[in-house]
Amino acid sequence: MIRRDLSVLSNVVASQNDLHERFGGVVPEIASRAHVRCILPVIDEALKKASVTLSDLSAIAVVNQPGLVGSLLVGLTAAKTLALATGLPLVVVNHIEAHLYACRMLAGRDVFPAVGLVVSGGHTNLYDCHGPTDFEWLGATIDDAAGEAFDKVAQILGLPYPGGPAVEVTAREGNPKAFAFPRVFLKEERLEFSFSGLKTAVLYKANGIPGSREASPEKTPARIADLAASFQEAVLDVLVGKCRQALRQRGRNRLLVGGGVAANGRFRERLEAMCKATKSELFIAPREMCTDNAAMGAIAWELFEKGHTAPLNVDVTPGLVRKPKTKLV
Ligand code: KG4
Ligand code: ZN
Repeated sequence: MIRRDLSVLSNVVASQNDLHERFGGVVPEIASRAHVRCILPVIDEALKKASVTLSDLSAIAVVNQPGLVGSLLVGLTAAKTLALATGLPLVVVNHIEAHLYACRMLAGRDVFPAVGLVVSGGHTNLYDCHGPTDFEWLGATIDDAAGEAFDKVAQILGLPYPGGPAVEVTAREGNPKAFAFPRVFLKEERLEFSFSGLKTAVLYKANGIPGSREASPEKTPARIADLAASFQEAVLDVLVGKCRQALRQRGRNRLLVGGGVAANGRFRERLEAMCKATKSELFIAPREMCTDNAAMGAIAWELFEKGHTAPLNVDVTPGLVRKPKTKLV
């Protein structure tokens, strides 16, 4: 629940991590069923914690893109129903842009223009953010998202789900230079990412090369820690390096970073060092606000004030729309 002055009145998150843990990743059908179960209790609790009722609201905001179609549909249907029942306007929000706008909201001041990186379980996208609702697409991963790579590598190393936090903790005990993993596209100017080769490289170092006559390496705690640290450093070198290139290419000196991977402590240190070296300002949410949360709803106020309400027949858009520019005026 977000107030017009952008303060967060309540932040209720129903985590599904325990449901997906045994599969090592999000199972779409399980996710949508859990959404059905949780959506009404979450709305109730959010109203209660904010000490407001439906009659105090100005608008109903909901994410309709991008994401898993079933989960998006549950949210959108609930929001449409509420809008219809209360007569309040409906505002639809892009999940990725909401992660970036959360940086503006948490900073409490204007942060635009800036380069923006969203790095989560489903996305690794770079934008040139001209204004609060004016995002120019710069590039993204051509295969796995960075968070997905963390989750899959955790699985390879026998670490718990979600993999990001587990890899981060394990990496603290390891040597980031123990294995020379690939840093794809780092030496090129293109603003794109690729993490699937890195994941396979970790798999071969962890389990041995399939069909090889050599015995598989032993998975000692020290080797696991070295693999985790070397993997993490390879991902972070690329993420930080691409932000640096984007800042230079676009002539920007502000960087917004959002999404679950931005909770990674080593990543935050590396970003701070890079921004200091390039005399740029870093805007990154506190660790607990990097994964999906209520502050992301703040962009809805920006859209609402500009009159961007949605009709009740608006649909979900599960795929990422790689438009050169999303400008709403
Ligand atoms: O933004 P988010 O909560 O949900 C999506 O929209 O995907 O991001 C979740 C992702 C997961 O892949 C998770 O492993 C990763 O963020 N993550 C981390 C850390 N905490 C969460 N990755 C690296 N280090 C962390 N500390
Ligand atoms: Zn997210």
